Amino acid sequence: MPTPLAASETVDHPRDVERIVAGRATSDGAGVKLTRVIDQHLQRRLDPFLMLDAFGTDNPEDYIAGFPDHPHRGFETITYMIAGRMRHRDSAGHEGLLENGGVQWMTAGRGVIHSELPQQEEGVMEGFQLWLNLPARDKMSTPWYRDFQAADLPRARTASGVEATVIAGRSHGVEGAVSRPATDPYYLDVHLPADTQFRQPLPPGHNAFVYVYRGSVAIGATRIESGRMAILANTPEADGVVLAAHGGPARALLIAGHPLREPIAQYGPFVMNDQQEIFQALSDFRDGRLA
Ligand code: FE2
Repeated sequence: MPTPLAASETVDHPRDVERIVAGRATSDGAGVKLTRVIDQHLQRRLDPFLMLDAFGTDNPEDYIAGFPDHPHRGFETITYMIAGRMRHRDSAGHEGLLENGGVQWMTAGRGVIHSELPQQEEGVMEGFQLWLNLPARDKMSTPWYRDFQAADLPRARTASGVEATVIAGRSHGVEGAVSRPATDPYYLDVHLPADTQFRQPLPPGHNAFVYVYRGSVAIGATRIESGRMAILANTPEADGVVLAAHGGPARALLIAGHPLREPIAQYGPFVMNDQQEIFQALSDFRDGRLA
């Protein structure tokens, strides 16, 4: 897809960093090693986002077992593969291959059972999985998913050479691949050459964070190193954020969304609004009614 040279964006009152989060090492699926950057403790603060996992390793033992069949209900999963190959299959008969730079956006809605399995026995596997909540009225909606190859994703390029893949939201005149009116998510992968800045307007009510995965990024006076997430302050008068590459080139995810402000009840891969709905999800799964 051609990369248009985009108009510059104006940010007069950039947000500051509220705090930096390191995440914690854990494993999931059949033993995939990963860093859980957003966990249940941050679900209120970062509403509508429920989870962010970062995985990155060149040791096959850390990823080879993958994620065999497991269910989801009540939210969306967005898997962004930086490097590697992963095949997904679900109970509705869908199947796809996610590889270098590709995105799978899946709306679990009332429920899917799927597997996510590596299609490589060596080499680097690196990427992210983000969980985005659904409003109560959409939690039992029909499941949906779409795969985007790297070449299909919209990209914005600024005059200073910063490139942003716009998975969701809008940036420098480029509309994202996916839009969701209820949560109005922004999901940008920003590649900053050395000595460049990137300005991104954001609605003031959105909860927002930046996860740096290469190099080092400065936001105001705060430096964020690779492998760290910066939660951006919700200052009422702020109109966006300015990312600056620090000491060399850098890459970061910039993610924001409109909070749902609804009760969150989570049990593993089910995220509903109350316990009764969780019990229902468990019994639907047990009795084969989920998919
Ligand atoms: Fe999954």
